[in-house]
Amino acid sequence: MGMSGRSCLLRALFFISCFVVDIDGEAASHRIVLYPQPQQQNSIASGVYRTAYHFQPPRNWINDPNGPMYFNGVYHLFYQYNPNAAVWGDMHWGHSVSVDLINWAPLPLALAPTSPYDVNGCFSGSATVRRGTHPAVLYTGVDANYEQSQNLALPANLSDPVLTNWTKSGHNPLISAGDDFEATNFRDPTTAWVGSDGLWRTAVGAQIGANGTALLYRSRDFVRWERASRPLHSSSGSGMWECPDFYPVSVVGVEGLDTPPTEGEVKHVLKMSLFETHSDHYMLGAYDAARDAFVPEGEGAVDDYRAWQRYDHGKFYASKTFFDAGRRRRILWGWLNESDSEADDVAKGWAGIQTIPRTIRLDSNRRQLIQWPVEEVRSLRKHVVHLQNMELQTGLHEIKGVKASQADVEVDFQLHDLERAQTFDPTWAMDPPRLCAEQDASVQGGIGPFGLLVLASEKLEEHSAIFFRVYKDQNAYKVLMCSDQRRSSLWPELDKAAYGTFLDMNLEKESKISLRTLIDHSVIESFGGGGRACISARVYPSFFSNSSAHLYLFNNGSSSTTVSRLKAWDMAGARLNIRVDELSIEH
Ligand code: FRU
Repeated sequence: MGMSGRSCLLRALFFISCFVVDIDGEAASHRIVLYPQPQQQNSIASGVYRTAYHFQPPRNWINDPNGPMYFNGVYHLFYQYNPNAAVWGDMHWGHSVSVDLINWAPLPLALAPTSPYDVNGCFSGSATVRRGTHPAVLYTGVDANYEQSQNLALPANLSDPVLTNWTKSGHNPLISAGDDFEATNFRDPTTAWVGSDGLWRTAVGAQIGANGTALLYRSRDFVRWERASRPLHSSSGSGMWECPDFYPVSVVGVEGLDTPPTEGEVKHVLKMSLFETHSDHYMLGAYDAARDAFVPEGEGAVDDYRAWQRYDHGKFYASKTFFDAGRRRRILWGWLNESDSEADDVAKGWAGIQTIPRTIRLDSNRRQLIQWPVEEVRSLRKHVVHLQNMELQTGLHEIKGVKASQADVEVDFQLHDLERAQTFDPTWAMDPPRLCAEQDASVQGGIGPFGLLVLASEKLEEHSAIFFRVYKDQNAYKVLMCSDQRRSSLWPELDKAAYGTFLDMNLEKESKISLRTLIDHSVIESFGGGGRACISARVYPSFFSNSSAHLYLFNNGSSSTTVSRLKAWDMAGARLNIRVDELSIEH
């Protein structure tokens, strides 16, 4: 271990405990003495929180990824966009294109709320590349009464390599709400697919009574749509389902599959974004093509959304996948909202980013999905710091030589002495975020907590902890993964949450837990257990304006852990808003 680990940890914990007292409001004077408050207004707007390699447009508000697609060698990302302000409202479809998913060029707005049926907003939707040659976009329009309908837009000129202009169909609105639900809860059509009867299908999110549902519509010509007698799926008490997504994943291979529900060894994924909780949940199951219904399995079969799986346990919402026919993979995008106040967003002049695009596939255990940053992200890796077989005893170890505010970090923790794991109390099972807060990085354990302290100030007054803790649960081990932002910044008016989940892995067989964390100024995107669990967070450390960030490994368990491998790369900035002629698009 490098610098005097244990005493450094104690010093860190001293600061941590000072701060705990402080945020409880009992010792405000401590804060004034220890950590003079920076001028929030000036600093948060200073530009240091803008991302260097996570997608964002030059300015203003974005939310959901819309209609992502790959067409003729070009990746398209549309997004909910307010062209006039850094707050939600006046929804348009922004449009950016890329050839590598890293560098992006913004194009003119693809859809604007100019028609009677969408005058109050062009809301979310999906793209379908029909027969591989004819892209079409289905999106939600919001009319003057705030009623929602589903609409069609097509590229104005198919020979334009980047599909700059989009034309709304003269047949719009194509699908109006039914009488059995509120027209204000009817939105976000999925990518369409063709059934064996040759008809197109799309599913639309809705709420009927207290139940969330994905209503199914069929069409012969993509213009006239009829509602099927039953939904693709619905669930009691889950409230409005926004942004449903429906696609197959291979059971035998790692390749992605196109949306038509392929025969053979596949499972299907149904994802919905729950408006009530602002979280994305998915179920694995089968598509019963004869009944045109999704049949969930495992936890999904429990009619209670709290049992369903999640793509990401942090700040992540309204995600959408697409099939990349070029590299035969399925890619997931998700919206990462800010954690600061609306006033901060206005001062910054921007709000909202997209995750790093992630490949998504079925785990070999067939019980969960695996997500991993697309391999193109590796092209941004520059200088690397490398550690091998380092015994991580109780304490801190600084990873020096890496630009800690813009990095990609991969660590493998090799565990021993599993019998030292603390006993698991079954009442902890229901609320991992709470467990992460109560047994945080400063609470000593048996095996763990160990992990990374990222975006840390020199004396650790500010830091985010991404860590694991192992428990013994009867005959098996339970692995808790946490991302704790509660000390990420001294600024008070931020959403500083502790996020957490359990990792579905067999520790006795694997004996190793891996962590990959992408750090990008105000983003911390973490992948635990090779992408079996993901946690994304947004943070705004106040020290950023004046000094640089630090990165530490830490272990606060009584048992040592071996860092069998650590690689931390400085990341180059992506060229996020370049001109389209700088993209080298092949014609
Ligand atoms: C999800 C969502 C969608 C809607 C869009 C509006 O974040 O509420 O349901 O289409 O955002 O911007």
